[in-house]
Amino acid sequence: MTDAPDSNLPDNLPDAARRVADAVRLDRVQARLDALAQIGGTPDGGVDRPAFSDAEREVTALFAGWCAELGLTVTYDDFGNLFASSDGNAAGGVTHAAGSHLDSVPNGGRYDGALGCVAALETVEAMGDAVFAPVAPFEIVVWRAEEPYRFAQGRVGSLICAGSLTVDDLVPRDPTFDVRPYLAAEARETRATRPRRAAGRGFASLLELHIEQGRRLEASGGHIGVVTAVSSTRRLCLTFTGVADHSGATPMELRRDALLAAAEVALATERVAQEEPLAESVATAVAISATPGAMNVVPGGAELLLDIRSTDPDAISRMAVKIGGVAQDMTEGRGVAVGVETLMRGDPVRFDAAVVAEIEATARALGYTAERMASGAGHDTQSMAHLTRAGMLFVPSRGGISHNPAEYTAPDEIERGVRTLAAVWARRVL
Ligand code: GLV
Ligand code: MN
Ligand code: MN
Repeated sequence: MTDAPDSNLPDNLPDAARRVADAVRLDRVQARLDALAQIGGTPDGGVDRPAFSDAEREVTALFAGWCAELGLTVTYDDFGNLFASSDGNAAGGVTHAAGSHLDSVPNGGRYDGALGCVAALETVEAMGDAVFAPVAPFEIVVWRAEEPYRFAQGRVGSLICAGSLTVDDLVPRDPTFDVRPYLAAEARETRATRPRRAAGRGFASLLELHIEQGRRLEASGGHIGVVTAVSSTRRLCLTFTGVADHSGATPMELRRDALLAAAEVALATERVAQEEPLAESVATAVAISATPGAMNVVPGGAELLLDIRSTDPDAISRMAVKIGGVAQDMTEGRGVAVGVETLMRGDPVRFDAAVVAEIEATARALGYTAERMASGAGHDTQSMAHLTRAGMLFVPSRGGISHNPAEYTAPDEIERGVRTLAAVWARRVL
C-alpha cells in the first residue's frame, strides 16, 4: 500500500487509488450486469424484480455468492438489507460502504440500482487484483425495496436502516402482499443461510454510483455527474366520492362523476408543476382509478395518486397547496367530495460539500469531465446522508430514459463511472 501522490495528477490522486481504478475490468462488470438482468428479465430486455419476489430472492442470492467468493462476510438485517463486509461482521464495526439496490420498478431497466451494486463488487475485486490490503474496513450494501413497488414509499430498506421508518409506517400499495408474515417466514426459513448483521455496526462513509435517469450528461457530453442534492418527494392519494348512477338514464347535468373530477385534478397537477419557477420541481399524476368500472355506470368513486418533487421543500408545499385548491374548486363544481391522504413526505438532501469535491476531483484526476447536478430521482444514499459522509455519482442515461426497459448506458460510460467510484472508495480504505 502506498499513499505517494502522482505529481502528474491535478489533485494528487494517491497512486493506490489510481491503480485500483486501472484494475477495474469492464468485461467483468458487463458479464455481471448481464447475469443479473437474466433474473426477472422481460422479453424487451428490461427487468421486473419487485422486492420480496422470487426474482428478488434469486438475484440477491446470486449477488451474495459473488460477494462470498471475494472473501466478504455476507449478512442481512431484519428487513433483508444485505451487507457484505471485509471485517467479518464485527460487532460495533464501522465501515466505508458502497452499494445500491437490486429491486426494480414494474417492467424497469437493467441498470437502475444493479450498476451501483456491480460497481461496488468490481471495486473490491479490483482492490484484490491490484494487490492492496485495505487498512480500513469496508462493505458492500444492497438495500431492499428501494423502488415503491409494494409500498407507497421508496427507499424502504435504507430508511429503516437509518431509523427513519419502521415496518409499521409502511403504506401498502399491493393488496396481495403482507410484509410482516413475509419477513417472519423468511427469517425462519433462512436462519442457517442468511446470518444476521452484528449489533452496533455503522458507516464511516457511503458511496453510490447510479445512472443519471435524466438528460443533462447526455446533453453536455459530460462523463461524470457529481450529485450535490436530491429532491424530496411528497406522495398524495386523493379520494373522490361522487354518486354512481345509470350511464344511459342520467342526464349530463345531473351527474356527480368522481372520475372526471380526478381527471381535472390530474391535468391541474401538470399545470401547477409547469408554473413552479424552481428548475427541479416536478409533479406527476401516476395513477387514476375509478369504481365501479362497469360499462353502464357513471363512476361514483375515484382515486388519484400524485408524486410531487423538488429540491426546495417550500416549492413542494406550494405545489401541494395549489393542487389541493384546484381539487376543492373542481369537486365543488361537480358535486363530488375529495379527501387527501399524505402517503410519504421526505426532506431534500444536500450531500457533504467535501465529499462532492472529492468525487469531482477524483473524476477529473482520472481524465474525465465532472459536472455537479441535483438528482430528481430518489436514492438510498440520501436516506443515510444525515448519518455519515455520503456521496453519489452519475453516469449518462441514453435519452434520459429510465424506469423503462429501454434504459441504457454505454460500456465506456459505465467504465468511467466504475473507475471513478473505485478510486474514491479506494482512497478511503487503502
Ligand atoms: C426511485 O427511483 C424514485 O426516485 O422514486
Ligand atoms: Mn429507480
Ligand atoms: Mn435506483
